[in-house]
Amino acid sequence: MSAIVIVGMQWGDEGKGKVCHFLSNWTDWVVRYQGGNNAGHTVVFDGKKYVLHLIPSGILYPDKKCIIGNGVVIDPVALVEETKFLRDREIEVAGRLFISSNSHLIFPYHQYKEGFREEVKTRIGTTRKGIGPAYEDKYGRVGIRMADYLEDDTFVELLDRNLREKKSFIERYKKPEELKEIILAKREEILPEIKEYVRETSLMLDKELAAGKNIIFEGAQGAMLDCDFGTYPFVTSSNPVSGGACPGSGVAPVCIDKVIGVTKAYTTRVGLGPFPTEIEGDLAHTLREKGGEYGATTGRPRRLGWLDIVQLKLAVRINGARKLALTKIDVLDDVKEIKICTGYSHNGQAVEDFPFSRKVLKEVKPVYETLEGWMAPTGGITDFDKLPENTRKFIRRIEELTSSKIVLVSMGKSKDDTIYIEKEGF
Ligand code: GDP
Ligand code: IMO
Ligand code: MG
Repeated sequence: MSAIVIVGMQWGDEGKGKVCHFLSNWTDWVVRYQGGNNAGHTVVFDGKKYVLHLIPSGILYPDKKCIIGNGVVIDPVALVEETKFLRDREIEVAGRLFISSNSHLIFPYHQYKEGFREEVKTRIGTTRKGIGPAYEDKYGRVGIRMADYLEDDTFVELLDRNLREKKSFIERYKKPEELKEIILAKREEILPEIKEYVRETSLMLDKELAAGKNIIFEGAQGAMLDCDFGTYPFVTSSNPVSGGACPGSGVAPVCIDKVIGVTKAYTTRVGLGPFPTEIEGDLAHTLREKGGEYGATTGRPRRLGWLDIVQLKLAVRINGARKLALTKIDVLDDVKEIKICTGYSHNGQAVEDFPFSRKVLKEVKPVYETLEGWMAPTGGITDFDKLPENTRKFIRRIEELTSSKIVLVSMGKSKDDTIYIEKEGF
């Protein structure tokens, strides 16, 4: 039995989907524990590209089972669309996908609220999927859970209560009575599709662990989008960090054996907010084009930056991620000089730890170390020792600076472009 958490170490889109899919080979179960369809996890499999938003990437292996845990917020419309997307590609989810009865649901009024905020109030640059407002309702104890959605009377009562409470801003978009009819009609379509998947998934996981099965927890977003430790308020409304896997799935911390942090060889972020090592101009353009740096969920261009060790050290610490998967090495193949930010300076003073003051974070200047690029293709190399010497030096330097071990290197979208250094399986 083994349980490992795979988490993003930056601002999301690190390549978690690819790494989870690669490591799923050794697992029985893959579990999502937070976030919702704000995530977009890309897996390139048998030459085909799949972008998964809600369903764990393990679903692409016919013999793996998947759970959408209680910590995830689910837009039922998006869920049905995703099961259909998979079924259309001959991937059957029935009997392999289970959804926690305690997960909370996203309704159009959550998206209205988010749209209103983004347009009229503080702009965060969210995905506008209604994630934040759904978590607000959950913690405000007015949320509607999957278990409630299944029961006619309970659902109507809770929906009426929410529509009454949120009347003033719903009216900006739609008549509340009209919205109620839309939600009820959708439910009629959706329920027969998803009813059979709903379970007490924490109980299932407990039994599977007791039976010696292996589990991967597939984090969404990343450490710097964590509501507690990220670049607040430009964060998401959940805890993507490894610790979130426990309350988000009902598995106790003692059951987690290992955490693998996924980091790109450089940094990207979508949305607004501070980004100390951001680069612009020709190099950013080249990396964006080479890395296909457009958000998998929103299609927005990603902002580009050098690898930031100050940020990465924070992510290693709060996730307990002493093992790292380093992705997108190939995007740097043609870059002559590669920079790594080893510290920040603020008003002439050295800053070693990631600052949480909004003012300081805006003002810090990155201090760079420059490494010679390898100027050679890395895709397709399957042996660590066959990587160009400068690639190996880059990898060793990151290990040294973060006090972590790089256990997996990814040099392309496909599963084949991966070197699993610490081939211990589970
Ligand atoms: P996630 O949200 O962390 O799963 O990452 P995304 O799927 O949103 O974004 C990562 C993007 O990089 C996707 O388009 C992946 O197919 C791609 N990708 C992942 N690993 C590599 C890699 O090593 N090299 C290249 N070139 N692309 C990669
Ligand atoms: P994956 O799992 C990258 C960002 C949004 C925005 C902020 C808040 O694919 O790595 P939200 O809609 O969550 O309230 O938006 O968080 N964001 C992501 N950025 N990858 C993601 O997921 C993201 N999920 C949310 O762009 O800045
Ligand atoms: Mg993504």
